[in-house]
Amino acid sequence: MLNLTSFETPHHPRSHVNALVRLHHPFTEEDRLEAAIKAGWNVFQFPSEMLCGGDLLSDSGTTTMTTEQFSALIMGDESYGSNWGYFQLLETMGTTFGIDTGEWEIYLFHQARAAEHALFTHITGENLIIPANSFFDTTRANAEANRIDARDLVCEDFKNNPDYPFKGNIDLGALEQLLEDHHKQIPLVISTITNNTGGGQPVSLENIKATRALCDTHGIPFFLDACRFAENAWFIKEREEGYKDKSVAAIAREEFSFCDGFTISFKKDGLANMGGALAIRKNSRLTERYPNIFDNIRDHQILVEGHPTYGGLSGRDIMTITVGLETVVKEEYLKGRIGQVEEFGKYLRQLGVPMIEPFGGHAVYLDMDRFFEGTAMKREDFGGISLAALLLLKGVRLCELGAFAFGTYNPDTEEETFPLHNFVRAAVPRNKYEAQDLFYVADCIKGLYDQRDAIPRAIPVWGKDKTLRHFKARFELVDM
Ligand code: F0G
Repeated sequence: MLNLTSFETPHHPRSHVNALVRLHHPFTEEDRLEAAIKAGWNVFQFPSEMLCGGDLLSDSGTTTMTTEQFSALIMGDESYGSNWGYFQLLETMGTTFGIDTGEWEIYLFHQARAAEHALFTHITGENLIIPANSFFDTTRANAEANRIDARDLVCEDFKNNPDYPFKGNIDLGALEQLLEDHHKQIPLVISTITNNTGGGQPVSLENIKATRALCDTHGIPFFLDACRFAENAWFIKEREEGYKDKSVAAIAREEFSFCDGFTISFKKDGLANMGGALAIRKNSRLTERYPNIFDNIRDHQILVEGHPTYGGLSGRDIMTITVGLETVVKEEYLKGRIGQVEEFGKYLRQLGVPMIEPFGGHAVYLDMDRFFEGTAMKREDFGGISLAALLLLKGVRLCELGAFAFGTYNPDTEEETFPLHNFVRAAVPRNKYEAQDLFYVADCIKGLYDQRDAIPRAIPVWGKDKTLRHFKARFELVDM
């Protein structure tokens, strides 16, 4: 049996920044145990002020803003209509994405899921299918809430080619087949760059171009889920033939040049704490099928978010996004950002912890099937949930994105269906931690990896039959 509060001795102390947080919040492991039990071992329900080890739950909205962003924030114009920052933002979106904003319909939202919700609500029809390399959890949920079949087409190289540099690519063969068989049911195709649910892996420009070409053959619009477009562009520069001498900024613009539209969360590569958008080319093929779509989405935006020139955001938020979008394509920033995640991954590799490699741009993904190999833990025991739950006791928070988050429970057969991937994700917030903090997290993971035989299983005592269940469920940890 695992002694819950003393399962490791980390080699790395926390950095001074984190140590300071700790001074203000002198929680003990016993305090955290009490809080974790109260939270039903659900990481989302655990109080963040107790996480002085490292909060790697998400890279979304968790960025530390730069001094330039804070300066711009002060200039935020809180007018109800046509605030000054809105026009600054349009200009920056034009420059960073390489688009002529006059030729696009641009809708601001408070975050990307609201943009996805608007888009999918106004894409109507019977038995619709939207193929993607992989859908993010809320993107899938938004599609499914509108009775759209969200279809993940993970490339074969993900499964068969361990060193493949673009494991985020869509499976072009599977897409071609689907388009041939069902093109009337397919309103658009999506490529998520980088592919968050598929290990934070990049998509090559070759794959983006080929997806676009297949869409062209069938007259179908092509969209990007562009949350991490700059990190994706960095990987293209580093890994794709013919791009090493191009700037990341130019590569980013090239990514957008192939799409008819995109959704984006500014909480990722907008380097901001809040914000999202939907953008659609005015001459895109989407209007052939949905002639009123622009008006419909505009009304939707006004009903749920506000005037189009602020779209659910304060003037301050808009200013921070404007500066964030300028910074994020700078190579000195991206080098540090991607380099830090890589350094974290390399240290975990040195400790022998099984992961998806190459490492993702914003996160490292621990591979739970290999982590528990040789132990009695089976997928239905939700070892990833237990691992993330136990790390809370060390003030560390990761997120299970695997058998529980993406699995489903069928109450009729009382059976679980499992997804392709079984990960626990350690997402690194931007501009927030030092390497030392990440090494502390890695040491804590290693502490549990060494005692993997003793890790209890996680029994969902509430919520396993719910949609989006990982946000809501409660667990008990029970010895194997
Ligand atoms: N698409 C992708 C690929 C995402 O990673 C996210 C969010 C969204 C859409 C939705 O954006 O949060 O602004 O509504 N991902 C976060 C994460 C939450 O932790 O990976 P949002």
